[in-house]
Amino acid sequence: MTGQAEEKRCFALAERLQKLIAAAGLCSRRTAEEWIAAGRVRVNGETATVGQSADPETDTICVDGVPVTPPERRVYLMLNKPEGVVSASTDKRDTTVVDLIGDAYPRRELFPVGRLDKTSTGFVLLTDDGTFAHDILAPRRHVSKTYTVVIDTPLTEEMKAGFAAGVTLADGTALSPAEASALTPDGLTVRVLLRQGVYHQIKRMFGVYGAGVNALHRDAIGGLALDESLAPGQWRELTADEVAKITTG
Ligand code: URA
Repeated sequence: MTGQAEEKRCFALAERLQKLIAAAGLCSRRTAEEWIAAGRVRVNGETATVGQSADPETDTICVDGVPVTPPERRVYLMLNKPEGVVSASTDKRDTTVVDLIGDAYPRRELFPVGRLDKTSTGFVLLTDDGTFAHDILAPRRHVSKTYTVVIDTPLTEEMKAGFAAGVTLADGTALSPAEASALTPDGLTVRVLLRQGVYHQIKRMFGVYGAGVNALHRDAIGGLALDESLAPGQWRELTADEVAKITTG
């Protein structure tokens, strides 16, 4: 897990008991605390204490002897993908983005939402929420992805206008409008914003203008930017507010 446990970058699935009991719709957190203090709550058969946490997937929580079932929780992770790692769940040869998560979520079927090339770096979103993944990948959603791209020929007005109008790739694929702007005076480091995901899209878009891509880093998905404190290979769980930001911007 590339040392994240020590840095507290990953969040365990265990939660405070009062939060779990309240999430199950039984009462407020405050009342749940009172129930715990009154000895009415047991975890795995043992009377719970105030301040105790439990993992709803592995622990049995009972109030007055009746099992509590909190609503199912989904996992959303932000990973800073290093070069050389593939955007897949399993691979016979290469390390995958799911391999980098290690055994932090042993009962979860995590998968990457969309792909970055093996040579690309940056923000990969992983989840076990198929409905959410399907939704943000849906073309009608137009969820943006923002990249920093290093090209081998300076960005031209022709490229910018072509991207804005929608490039037609060599195989005839007509792409939707995209944005490009130079980040450096030499025009070689460029910010690109896409609202669709076609295989090798950016490399092929620059290829139409005879430009090669030397490096490609994903900075943001929708309105959520990659946490700059995550070193390549590091990851962390997203908060509910961060997950909501993905579908904006
Ligand atoms: N476009 C590409 O060409 N490669 C990526 O990894 C992402 C977008």
